[in-house]
Amino acid sequence: MTPQDYEYLRKLLKERSGLDLSADKQYLVESRLVPLARKASLAGIPELVQKMKAGAEALTAEVVEAMTTNETFFFRDKLPFDHLKEAVLPALAQARAARRSLRIWCAASSTGQEPYSIAMCLKEAGAMLAGWRTEIVATDLSLAVLEKSKAGIFSQFEVQRGLPIQMLVKYFTQNGELWQLNADIRGMVQHRQLNLLQDFSHLGTFDVIFCRNVLIYFDQDTKAKIFERISRMLEPDGVLALGAAESVVGITNAFKPYPDRRGLYRPNAAPTIVRPGVATLVPQAPRSVASAR
Ligand SMILES: C[S@@+](CC[C@H](N)C(=O)[O-])C[C@H]1O[C@@H](n2cnc3c(N)ncnc32)[C@H](O)[C@@H]1O
Repeated sequence: MTPQDYEYLRKLLKERSGLDLSADKQYLVESRLVPLARKASLAGIPELVQKMKAGAEALTAEVVEAMTTNETFFFRDKLPFDHLKEAVLPALAQARAARRSLRIWCAASSTGQEPYSIAMCLKEAGAMLAGWRTEIVATDLSLAVLEKSKAGIFSQFEVQRGLPIQMLVKYFTQNGELWQLNADIRGMVQHRQLNLLQDFSHLGTFDVIFCRNVLIYFDQDTKAKIFERISRMLEPDGVLALGAAESVVGITNAFKPYPDRRGLYRPNAAPTIVRPGVATLVPQAPRSVASAR
């Protein structure tokens, strides 16, 4: 790959997916795109770039997808899901008692382990949310991961990563070497293709947003803009969950830390917490959910 090819790919990936590659990531591009070039019967990356420059849109979309990192696993980092069970859901169950509905967005949901972990937490909440209307919207840039997520079929390796054995037994059915997630949990999650660089206001507003381990690939300016747009999608007492290595500090003032719950944030105009885990009741703005149905 020539330095010009690398520059072309860097610029294109930044524009299309937000991926901010440093000058020394040629090896990463080569390891992901040489197999793609071969699959397309091309000699290598220079020929791939030539086709892209000539307007091969489907191939360009494949390149963008191939450069995404889809690493994920069930109950990743554990802590956000403990926070959800122990603090966030009880607080929202109280604050939304009249409305009896909850909307959760899992942005960058990859192959489904994260939205399905959230779905299992809601299921495990049992009586607290019985009879409630709960929606989990899972979105990702990559169609391939969304397809896998929708199928809800996981390998032995995948179910061994993070999923407690009792949940495996309770919510999955074994089929040879694979595990099929049961229909009731699958049915709790809606899937949509969505690029975080583009407008996402049509999704409506949410009580909880998980946006984990995706913004780490973006530059500061892109992160700040996305945080700001996400903050407009959260209810005033809603909660944002970030990945273990992520933070809003030094990037945006749109969020402040959720007290005593590492990795969780609230919109900056959020009401103060008066008792651990229980949010003050504030009047809820009307929600625009029609487009997310
Ligand atoms: C490392 S995975 C994180 C999955 C999950 N959130 C977790 O923490 O386990 C990052 C995901 O972000 C998606 N992604 C990358 N760029 C994106 C973008 N611009 N818009 C939406 N999703 C994107 C990738 O396709 C990938 O599935």
